[in-house]
Amino acid sequence: MNREEAVLKELNLYPEWVQRGRPDPLPSPVEARERAVEDQAGQSSEFGWPELKARVRGCTACKLRAGCKQTVFGVGDEKAGWLFVGEGPGADEDERGEPFVGQAGKLLDNMLAVIGLKRGKDVYIGNIVKCRPPGNRVPEADEIAQCLPFLQRQIKLIQPKLIVALGKTAATALLGKDAALASLRGKLHDFGGIPLVITYHPAYLLRAPMEKAKAWQDLCLAVETMNNRASSD
Ligand code: URA
Repeated sequence: MNREEAVLKELNLYPEWVQRGRPDPLPSPVEARERAVEDQAGQSSEFGWPELKARVRGCTACKLRAGCKQTVFGVGDEKAGWLFVGEGPGADEDERGEPFVGQAGKLLDNMLAVIGLKRGKDVYIGNIVKCRPPGNRVPEADEIAQCLPFLQRQIKLIQPKLIVALGKTAATALLGKDAALASLRGKLHDFGGIPLVITYHPAYLLRAPMEKAKAWQDLCLAVETMNNRASSD
């Protein structure tokens, strides 16, 4: 069985004879997978938190699930004004089932503190992918494509006033285009009508502390944007 067939099997779409007798022409394997993934992630449904959490927990749509201990859904105030989005769980997060609990998480907590925020209080923290990539590698395009609808649904439910993308993976996944982080940070973007600020990933800042000044500028832009929104509401 090739990988395509294995994925289809995982989604209960293989072998194709199960679909015989359908009134519509059979979709191609790729179309079938896209439809199934869309349905699995609930992109087209209007369900709430409990079902979304259950779907993430039960998701086996990409190869990441087989290599991690558990899915890491996201954490915080489900009606938060601030949404911080990272890349994907690391070893500590995989162990604990919560995003940003390792060294990078400590720095993120400090970054929140300097702008008067606290994890869980008007703040929600999530990731682009919900399963730990092996060896903390960057998630691959197909893994991001499978998982992104879950985050999109989280965003619909939270309705944050502002999103902060932490690092290039989060930034490019949310923007839907590839670009260097240095060219994306320092200005305001838009995610479906929600202001999006892009900054360095805390793990990168741990390796390159000289860049903290730029991250600070980005956080100031985020605060200013929030304040402007508050005064115009
Ligand atoms: N890095 C991330 O991008 N997300 C986490 O949850 C932890 C580390």
